[in-house]
This record gives sequence, structure tokens and C-alpha cells, in this order.
Amino acid sequence: MAVRKPAPGDLEPIETASRDELQALQLERLQWSLAHAYDHVAHYRKTFDRAGMHPRDCRSLADLARFPFTVKADLRDNYPFGMFAVPREEVVRIHASSGTTGKPTVVGYTRGDIDTWANLMARSIRAAGGRAGDMIHVSYGYGLFTGGLGAHYGAERLGATVIPMSGGQTEKQVQLIQDFKPNIIMVTPSYMLAIAEEMERQGIDPAKTSLEIGIFGAEPWTATMRQSIEAKLDMDAIDIYGLSEVMGPGVAQECIETKDGLTIWEDHFYPEIIDPETGHVLPDGQKGELVITSLSKHALPIIRYRTRDLTRLLPPTARSMRRLEKITGRSDDMLIIRGVNLFPTQVEELILREEALAPHYQLEISRPKALDELTVVVERAPGAGGADGDSAGQKLAHHIKSLIGVSAAVRVVQSGGIERSLGKAKRVIDKRSKL
Ligand code: DLL
Repeated sequence: MAVRKPAPGDLEPIETASRDELQALQLERLQWSLAHAYDHVAHYRKTFDRAGMHPRDCRSLADLARFPFTVKADLRDNYPFGMFAVPREEVVRIHASSGTTGKPTVVGYTRGDIDTWANLMARSIRAAGGRAGDMIHVSYGYGLFTGGLGAHYGAERLGATVIPMSGGQTEKQVQLIQDFKPNIIMVTPSYMLAIAEEMERQGIDPAKTSLEIGIFGAEPWTATMRQSIEAKLDMDAIDIYGLSEVMGPGVAQECIETKDGLTIWEDHFYPEIIDPETGHVLPDGQKGELVITSLSKHALPIIRYRTRDLTRLLPPTARSMRRLEKITGRSDDMLIIRGVNLFPTQVEELILREEALAPHYQLEISRPKALDELTVVVERAPGAGGADGDSAGQKLAHHIKSLIGVSAAVRVVQSGGIERSLGKAKRVIDKRSKL
């Protein structure tokens, strides 16, 4: 793995600006964004007025904490276009999140917003080690999901050759990687594993392909998973974060030279970490819920959006902007089993310790009697025998009990026994609702 450090001239001036310069820009843009939202979106006018706040009251970055939050339900309640701050005719693109229940969350972009997004994605790919002239295979889904088109526009803006493969057709993914020889792939980490598995099925060693860098996001994945992917595919595995309500991929990006969390592009997004219970802003370094305010978006300004993602803000390293610690869970994914809180990624860490198990897993929750029960369904590694798999399963159950504090049944299934997702992996199967 050859780490591609940025040459001094590669970066935009703001990426290395002083903290003072950055904060001055943030305040100017924040004041614009608050006024834009208040003046053009009835929802914001109503919530600001109710909180007794006017955009003029924002005189410092800290003043933002006095403005009201925005939550996913606000976008749903204003379905489809009620949160737009520009006439519909100025919106050149719509995306939407699928939403497991009810209506999807709709977001829109002006031509200028698309341009900013492409620039930020190009900046993100560059931070991950990409350069003009590279060939980038995009396996994030194209369509209403922001992953495919977001990656695509950024890769083109960077000057790369893009392969707009989208998700699915796993055999064809492998064929195109073999034939076109891209050096970068952008895909969810779980689907990367499915592609690697297909390579092995075809007798191709995943470590011997042309791929050098993977830009992985859209779902939580652990540091242990990074090591496992890097070893299996002989590539640099770099984290990318984003969400449709705020823009899509490219809100924050890990830098290849440090691999120490996600630099949040603070010239366009203002991050806060809050205590999810009280809503109070926490100091940098403390863990809580990430709240983001857009600083430059026209079609859909978003003020203090509660992401539900749990992380902490870390000081800048490779760039002038602060970092987010790797996001290994969102509050919605937290399971409470007999009073113990648990995230699927904690189980992932323990699965990856066992050589006889593969990192394809699901957590099933059921309530056969009065209490919730957790069953971890996990695959045996392709080369492992049945007995090895079973004993690894027993060890896993023991580790879950001793390290997480929950009694879980572990069911080890044969290789390929868990359905592969073509995008975001489905980690939790809640059987309680069916009872
Ligand atoms: O997943 C945007 C995206 C596409 C990001 C491609 C990165 C790559 P949504 O479908 O709106 O947008 O889902 C956003 O996914 O709030 C997180 O919970 C989760 N998520 C996204 N990136 C990461 C990551 C896209 N790197 C939701 N680590 C977010 C952990 C992530 N979770």
C-alpha cells in the first residue's frame, strides 16, 4: 500500500487556513444560512419565532446553540417540498432516503448546491488519496440514494475516469474490475466484502487486483473491519461520512495520511455534539449526538439537524478542520437487551477476532416469553470446518457475555447463509413486532 500524501499545492487554501480564518468564514456563512432559512422556509420562521430567536441574534458561533433543532420528522411533516428555500423551478435535482416507515425524506439541490457538492466530493476523494487521472469504480447505488451520484460527480470533478457501476450484479462488478483495472473503489464496506467473496468464488485473489484504495461509508464499520479489509484486499480502506438531509456523501472524510477519523468540511458544515437526553451542547472531546448546520446550501438549508449519529469532535490533524471520531453506531441502532445497551458494531469487533467466522452477521431480537432475547447469526469462514465454526461460535457467545455483558445465543450458519445486501447491510432483524 503506497500512501499518497497530498503535495502542498494539492489542497484548497481553506484546508490549511488558520482556526481564526476558518471561524470568521463560518460565522459569516452561518448568519447567511440562518437568515436564508428564516426568510424562505415557513417551518424555520415558525420554530425560530417560537423559540424567541431571530437570525440577527446570532452574533457568535456559540449563539447557534440557542436556535431550535431540526429532526427527521420535520422533513417528513413538510413532505415533499415544504422545506425548500428556493422556488421549485430552481431545484435541479431531488434525492430521497428510503425510510423504513412512512414517507421518504426528500431533499433538493440548486445548480449551485450540486456544484458545491461535487467540489466537496472531489476534495474528499483527494483526501482519500485519489488524483486526476485515476480510475474510480463506483458501486454505491445510483438513484434516489445520494451515494452513487454524489461519488460520481465528485470523481468527475477531480478529473478521474468514472465507472458508474452502481450496486448489484456482483459478477459483473468483478468482471469490470478485472478488465478495466480501476485503482479506486467507492462502495459500502459490507458490499465490498460481497465483491471480494465473488472474486474468490471465481478463483481471483482479492489482494491481487488493481484496486489500491477503497472509500467506504454509508454504514457503520469498525477499525477491526478496516484491518480485515486492508489485509484481504491489500488496499487502503478510508472512511467517508455523509447523510442526505445534510448533503449526501462528502460531509466528512478521512485523510489517507493519518487515518484518524473523519475531517468534517467545516467551511460548509458546522458541527455540534449534544447530550441526546438534554439537548445541551457538549465540549469537544465528549461523546454525544452529532448535530449539523449547513453553511452554504441554498435549496435546503438545514439548521441544527439531529443526525442521531454518536461520535465526538477531535482536534484538527491533517487539515485545519476538526475531526469526527469513527462513527460506530447511531442512537436508533442501539439495542437494549435486558437493560444492557449494545450496538451491532460491538458484536462485529468480537466476530472478527475469530478466524473460523466470517464478518457476515445479523442480530435477531425476539421475545418468546416476557424478556427480549438476542441471537447472533454469523457465518462460518469459507475454509473453516463445521466443528471449528461451532467452537468459534461458543467463544463468541462467551466474549459477548463477558465483554458486552449480554447473554446471547450464537447460531453459526454455513458460508453464504446470510443474505448479502447490495448497499447498506441490514444488521438487526427485529422479530418482536411480528409476535
Ligand atoms: O448514506 C450518504 C453516504 C453515501 C455516505 C455514501 C457515505 C457514502 P443516508 O442514506 O441519508 O446517506 O444515510 C445517512 O448513514 O446518518 C449514518 O448513520 C450512516 N453513515 C453514513 N456514512 C457513515 C460512516 C448516506 N462513514 C446515515 N460511518 C448517517 C458510519 C455512516 N455511519
